[in-house]
Amino acid sequence: METLKDVFQHLTFPWLFMSISARRIPYTIRTLISEGRWQTLFCLDGFRDALFGNLWAIVGPQVKSNAEVRVIPLLEGRVRNAEVSNQVVSKPVSGRILEVGAGTGMWADVFLKINTTGQYAGAEAENTDDLTTRRRVAARGISKIYGVEPHAQSVKALRQRTKELGMEDMYEAIPVGIEQLDDPDATGSATTIEPGSIDCIVSILCLCSIPDQEKNIKALYKLLKPGGRWYVYEHVKVKRGRMLLGWYQRYTNFFWAFFLGSCRLCNDTATHLKEAGPWSSVDLAQPPDEPVYKVLPHILGVLTK
Ligand SMILES: C[S@@+](CC[C@H](N)C(=O)[O-])C[C@H]1O[C@@H](n2cnc3c(N)ncnc32)[C@H](O)[C@@H]1O
Repeated sequence: METLKDVFQHLTFPWLFMSISARRIPYTIRTLISEGRWQTLFCLDGFRDALFGNLWAIVGPQVKSNAEVRVIPLLEGRVRNAEVSNQVVSKPVSGRILEVGAGTGMWADVFLKINTTGQYAGAEAENTDDLTTRRRVAARGISKIYGVEPHAQSVKALRQRTKELGMEDMYEAIPVGIEQLDDPDATGSATTIEPGSIDCIVSILCLCSIPDQEKNIKALYKLLKPGGRWYVYEHVKVKRGRMLLGWYQRYTNFFWAFFLGSCRLCNDTATHLKEAGPWSSVDLAQPPDEPVYKVLPHILGVLTK
């Protein structure tokens, strides 16, 4: 039973987030000055991105820990109609994987932890931090992970983190935005990702931050093989019909756009994904345990090409 306090907390949650970001402004300014990054300091977009990086360093781990209860089952093939199951109900991630907006690599360890055998290992295994045991299991299904991330600071952290996790052979950071993936001059990498060459795309709380979402989702769709799968956990615009909440979300987004880098609240991500191209199956919904008045509603599920 939801109380008035719960409603209040949900409605004010984005403002709490923004206030944490606001408190990082002095630190961001000091860091940019001490590093002599004057151009970033005096460019609105650059400053927003730097501020977001400093915010995510603080809130990111908590966001991840809250999201793991959905994301791990999603990647293990234990989600249907946005409900987490103890049974494996679809294919787990496998093969050549593209992680969109990989950030500092916060989710990298999850690729080692998840059980990709298609057999549910039980709740006990979910809690284990014994990476070495799980690494052997995971390695069976995953051949390569490409982490696409445009921000130089994050790419540095991403490379460091995957190295610390012993994933150098398995995980490659690609230091560009997804809109530049087909430009070998931009990637500066020997790796080019050919259309139709990726088995699975994983997007976790990142499509909210990419430019020209509709166009770039279509570009990502083309990278998937026929039968390839796109695993999605994203926050999105409020559903049609919830007029007051939709208005409140748009009002909040006005301020959010300054404090949260390139992240936006009102993306119609579900529609853009469904219309990216023909899918053989779409299993995408809002988790049923989310209240109707949530200002940051999510979509969770898998689309299969
Ligand atoms: C909210 S963060 C999430 C990062 C990570 N997925 C996580 O959950 O910790 C969004 C990420 O999308 C990245 N991003 C922004 N524009 C992008 C683009 N054009 N292509 C790929 N990633 C982008 C940002 O740099 C940032 O790391």
